[in-house]
Amino acid sequence: MMKRIAVFTSGGDAPGMNACIRAVVRTAVYHGIEVYGIMRGYSGMIKGEFVKLDSASVSNTVQRGGTILKSARSQKFMTKEGRQQAYDQLMNNGIEGLIAIGGNGTFTGATLFEQEFGIPTVGAPGTIDNDLFGTDYTIGYDTAVNTALEAIDKIRDTADSHDRCFFIEVMGRDSGYIAIPCAIGGGAEIVMVPETQMSTEAVIDTLREGWKRSKTSFIVIVAEGEVEGNVHEVAKRVKAAIPQLDTRVTIVGHIQRGGSPTAADRLLSSQIGIAAVEGLVNGMRNVMAGIVDKKLVYTPFADTISKKKLINQSFMRMVEILNS
Ligand code: F6P
Repeated sequence: MMKRIAVFTSGGDAPGMNACIRAVVRTAVYHGIEVYGIMRGYSGMIKGEFVKLDSASVSNTVQRGGTILKSARSQKFMTKEGRQQAYDQLMNNGIEGLIAIGGNGTFTGATLFEQEFGIPTVGAPGTIDNDLFGTDYTIGYDTAVNTALEAIDKIRDTADSHDRCFFIEVMGRDSGYIAIPCAIGGGAEIVMVPETQMSTEAVIDTLREGWKRSKTSFIVIVAEGEVEGNVHEVAKRVKAAIPQLDTRVTIVGHIQRGGSPTAADRLLSSQIGIAAVEGLVNGMRNVMAGIVDKKLVYTPFADTISKKKLINQSFMRMVEILNS
């Protein structure tokens, strides 16, 4: 049985990370294992920024957005020298295993670390993007979608009052997971995501169609990672093709990363936090704890990193049908 483990958050923060840290700490306490928090992800690991955590350290955190352990993206950990320093720090502090809350960048680092130094890591999927293979939902995704949706509802009010067409960018570096439920739930006419090949010409056709049907206001959701171009470029091309359209652009941005986690995110974060610690102390390494079809699964980091979680194409069809 391990005697001492450490937990850290890495990459972009996500609402529910604190609930996950809390679950990790309390599970460790429950099993009689000492637990440390590493500040600022791999960056703090290299510098030896460790804090001892107990049950009280995570009181009053389940409802808080952000991460009490702070987060960073470390370039230094991507070097052998950086990982050697991190290993030395862990050894000096007697840490035998790690819980990493983050995304694919975090798990890539953990895999290298285990190969070189044999430190076992179990991951928890912490990213608003929901782009990780091996879990139906990631920590923070549900909250981010609800935050974006709230913003879109407000934009729709003003779009309707002024008969305007709004192009709204939501987050998702390489994926449309946030954009799609925003489009369905926000009553958007069109959604552009990197996983599909919707051309700007198709967007123009759909808007012209709507115009003919006497629609006067439109919402086009554009995922941040859209391959046709960014939201400003798409809006500019559409305006050039349909000059009578009064267009505006809104970027929802980092508000999607903050705020109090939803009930769904608190539940998921807690389930995964417990599963991550119990997996680690039962000998698992280089796996991510996730929930697939309501069941707990551990997926090798190699798969979470290399496999693409596919978008459900029926959702794209839903947007089309609901716009008729
Ligand atoms: O991965 C989460 C995410 O919010 C992406 O949606 C976005 O592309 C990126 O992080 C933004 O990163 P940063 O906060 O470093 O600007």
